[in-house]
Amino acid sequence: MDLAAFTAALPKVELHLHLEGTLEPDLKLELARRNGVDIGQTTVEEVRASYVFDSLASFLSVYYPAMDVLVTRADFRDLAMAYFARAAAQNVRHAEVFFDPQVHVARGVALEDVVLGYHDAVVDAERQFGMSAGLIACLVRDLPLEGAEAVVDGLLGFADRIVGIGLDSDERGNPPARFAHLFARARAAGLKVTVHCDVDQEDTTEHLRQALEEIVVDRLDHGTNVVEDPRLLELVRTRGTGLTCCPVSNAFVTGDSKAAVIAQLLRSGVRVTVNSDDPAYFGGYVTENLVRLTQEADLTPDELVQLQRNAIEVSWASGEVKEGFLAELD
Ligand code: ADE
Ligand code: ZN
Repeated sequence: MDLAAFTAALPKVELHLHLEGTLEPDLKLELARRNGVDIGQTTVEEVRASYVFDSLASFLSVYYPAMDVLVTRADFRDLAMAYFARAAAQNVRHAEVFFDPQVHVARGVALEDVVLGYHDAVVDAERQFGMSAGLIACLVRDLPLEGAEAVVDGLLGFADRIVGIGLDSDERGNPPARFAHLFARARAAGLKVTVHCDVDQEDTTEHLRQALEEIVVDRLDHGTNVVEDPRLLELVRTRGTGLTCCPVSNAFVTGDSKAAVIAQLLRSGVRVTVNSDDPAYFGGYVTENLVRLTQEADLTPDELVQLQRNAIEVSWASGEVKEGFLAELD
C-alpha cells in the first residue's frame, strides 16, 4: 500500500481545529442567504478569491468578518456537523475542536446558542458517525480583556458541555500571562488549558515560557519554536506536553510548513501531533496535512502511527475512548 493510502485509512485524532475555520464557501453562501446577511460575494469562486493571506494577521482579517453568517443555534450545529462529516470520512475517530465565543457574543449572538449549537453537533456526530468530540472555547487574545472575562463567567455555566479553554488570535502584544487568572478559574471548574504559540510570531519564545512555566498548560497549539530554547524543550519533553502542529497552515502564515522541525521533534520523543487548523481557508484537512508532512520529512508508516498514538495520549478523551482507539491502531 502506498503511504497516501496508508494515511487515508489510518484511524486518526484531531486536536487543533477551529470550527469557524471549517466554513467552506458553499456553506458560507447558504448561511448568508438563510440569514439575509450581505457578504459581498455570491459565488463560490468569489468567496475563494477573497481568501488572500500571507501572515496570521492577514488571515485573521478575512476569517473574522466571515463569521457574520453564523446567527442561530442551528447555524452553529450545521457548521460543526459539516466538519464532523468530513472528519469521519477521513477516519478521524476523536476530535477536540476550538471555537471563538467572544467574537459571536460581540456580534449580539447569545453565548448559549453558540455552545448549545456546537454541542448539538457533538451529540449528533457520536450518533451518526460513532466518533467522539470535545469543545474547547478559545479566548480571543486581541479583543478587550473584559469580554474574555465575561465569556468565562458565562462558559462556567456550560462547563459540562466543554472540555477546555484555549487562547488564540493575534499574538502581538497579547501574551498568555495576561489571561492567567482566567485559566486558573477554568481549571478550578475542571477544564483543561491549552494556548496557541503560533509559529515564528513576535515574542514566541517568551510566550512559550509563560505558557509552560506560569500557566503550566496541558497542551501547546503549534509550539514548534520550543526548539529555540533548550530549557523549554526539556520541559516539554519531560512533562510529555502535546504539541498540536499544523503544517499546511504554517506554510500559509510563515511560508514554511516547518516539516523538518516537526519531524525532528517527533523523532526526539516530543509528543507531536498533526492537525488542520483552519482547513476551509488553508485547503487541507487532517489527511492532507499528514501527507504533506510525510512527503516533506520522509515519515515512515511507524512514524505516522506514532503521531496518532501521541494524539490520543495527549487528548482529553475518556479512558474508554483512549483504549478503544489504541486497540484500533494496533
Ligand atoms: N484562529 C484561527 N486560526 C488561528 C491560528 N492559526 N492562530 C491563531 N488564531 C487562530
Ligand atoms: Zn489554531
